Amino acid sequence: MVAEVLTMRFDSPRTILQAAGARHQLPAFLEGKRSPLIVTDAYLLRTGLVPPGTIFSQVQPDPTEANVAAGLSLAIESNADVIIAFGGGSPIDCAKAIRHRYQPVPLITIPTTAGTGSEATPVMVITDEAAGIKRMTRDASLLPDIAIIDHELSASMPRPLTAHVGVDTLTHGIEAYVSRKRHNLALARAEHCIELCRLHLRDAWLEGSNLTAREGMAIAALEGGLAFGNSSVALVHGMSRPLGALFHIPHGLSNAVLLPAVTRFSLPAAESLYREVAALLGASSLLDYLESLNRDLEIPRLRECCNNDRARFEQLIPKMAADALASGSPANNPRIPSPEEIAAIYLEAW
Ligand SMILES: [Fe+2]
Repeated sequence: MVAEVLTMRFDSPRTILQAAGARHQLPAFLEGKRSPLIVTDAYLLRTGLVPPGTIFSQVQPDPTEANVAAGLSLAIESNADVIIAFGGGSPIDCAKAIRHRYQPVPLITIPTTAGTGSEATPVMVITDEAAGIKRMTRDASLLPDIAIIDHELSASMPRPLTAHVGVDTLTHGIEAYVSRKRHNLALARAEHCIELCRLHLRDAWLEGSNLTAREGMAIAALEGGLAFGNSSVALVHGMSRPLGALFHIPHGLSNAVLLPAVTRFSLPAAESLYREVAALLGASSLLDYLESLNRDLEIPRLRECCNNDRARFEQLIPKMAADALASGSPANNPRIPSPEEIAAIYLEAW
């Protein structure tokens, strides 16, 4: 009889390139390919940086099932033999969904925002507009084959986007570190992600053209993705998705407005882990650090993201709490909340 062994499995793209100008290495991965499908968005298309191929640029922020269906048609029509995602988390997740439904062709990701880490995870979030939810799917077959990390692409991001994706990155590091599914092999990635955010996030926000800071945040985003892709996200992400689905708050921003309140709730259940996180951030109080980070990066309060419509917000809290719990992410949190506790955290962040 073979003894059962509990294995901790670590998945990552087969190849990761990271350097200034790494995007220029793309042709080396396209040898023998005749029909690349590029998945991007309308803004990036106008920058002229999008690689050549059949271009699908109709990806919305928070990509929808309809976006995926349109991209899939184009993949079929153009007989795509490789899919290249060029953009932030939305084009990358849309490209993952297109490939998943198309056929097993290689997926190459070139992130442009240094935030979601989606370039390195087997996770995607697609919005189901009919149901009013952002659906997270995790499947080993979603993992990109190649990730090309070129921080020069993130140098022109405006301050608010830098803030949103930067705090999203920090959230990935923290949630992977404290998760009930924390993973031995992912811990070092989570630690380094948090440290890089301490060293570089404020500088990247203050001075976008600071390529040292941009490179630091690009690596933090990648490592945050490797960390949470192999452990998991937790309550912040669980509560953040309903805000995106119902109030169209961008992913990073909805995490950022929740991070301090969720951390305050979770802290008593894992004090030593959160102390270690504070130490990685060079802070004596983690809560003070997170609150002042949000202030410094001009992250608004939740009410400002919801047009100050308190009545609609309160009315939707039961659905948001139910959808958050149904996503499974809150069950990975050090302190697992009841629906009433989730409601209280939403109100605290308001
Ligand atoms: Fe995230």
